[in-house]
Amino acid sequence: MSDRRPIIGGNWKMNTTLAGARDLAQAVVQAIGQDGARQADVVLFPPFVSLAGVAGTLGDGPVALGAQDVYHESDGAFTGEISCAMLADCGCGYVLTGHSERRHVIGESDDLVGLKTRAAIASGLHVILCVGELLEEREAGQTDAVNERQLRAALAGLGPDAAPRLTIAYEPVWAIGTGKTATPADAQAAHARIRQVLGELMGDAASTSIRIQYGGSVKPANAAELFGQPDIDGGLIGGASLKAEDFASIVRAACSDPARPR
Ligand code: PGA
Repeated sequence: MSDRRPIIGGNWKMNTTLAGARDLAQAVVQAIGQDGARQADVVLFPPFVSLAGVAGTLGDGPVALGAQDVYHESDGAFTGEISCAMLADCGCGYVLTGHSERRHVIGESDDLVGLKTRAAIASGLHVILCVGELLEEREAGQTDAVNERQLRAALAGLGPDAAPRLTIAYEPVWAIGTGKTATPADAQAAHARIRQVLGELMGDAASTSIRIQYGGSVKPANAAELFGQPDIDGGLIGGASLKAEDFASIVRAACSDPARPR
């Protein structure tokens, strides 16, 4: 039985206009209601240019704001990049690092993800570090090895004091936006191994407390079974987070697990 509080993220990716983002945020807040917000951490990840606007919509309410990426330097000649302090200034408490689209579409290396992860944690942001294997890596039996390599590169040098500002999202790349989901048993096996690696890197207390989300085609229809696994502490939701009702229903699925704290 886990007493970790569920955490659900809505990763809107490169979708929504400013007005659309504010409307969606408002609709999510209404659809989730007081109960959902009390029982889980809920974080929305709009595009950079909508962060300040969505921060205004969310106000001091219980739904938190995060960014989809960050740059590790604090300021200077880095055209197009956004610093941790700029994110905090926009009202962000969270940031994603190492999302598979950053790694595999944009070309970010393990080392760059590590620089970003450590800079964001040092700045006081809460990082959701994404890891996960490609289809060919899964078929070659390398799922755990890939996750471990990405975790070790991203978390090198971090101690247990970083744990309260860290969440891991396990997102098998072949399941993202494809409609294919890892079976709950496969996802649980990967999560359990990730928790073991966290223990080796940061100690037992940290590995017990750090939440591990599952991501990759999570929908209202499959969320409860995934979140019912002992090492799955919520989800990082892409496509389904663009529909307020679907997203709220996924949040409710995380809250209805009887093993979770209220
Ligand atoms: P998906 O995306 O839910 O659309 O598969 C998940 C993610 O990329 O975080």
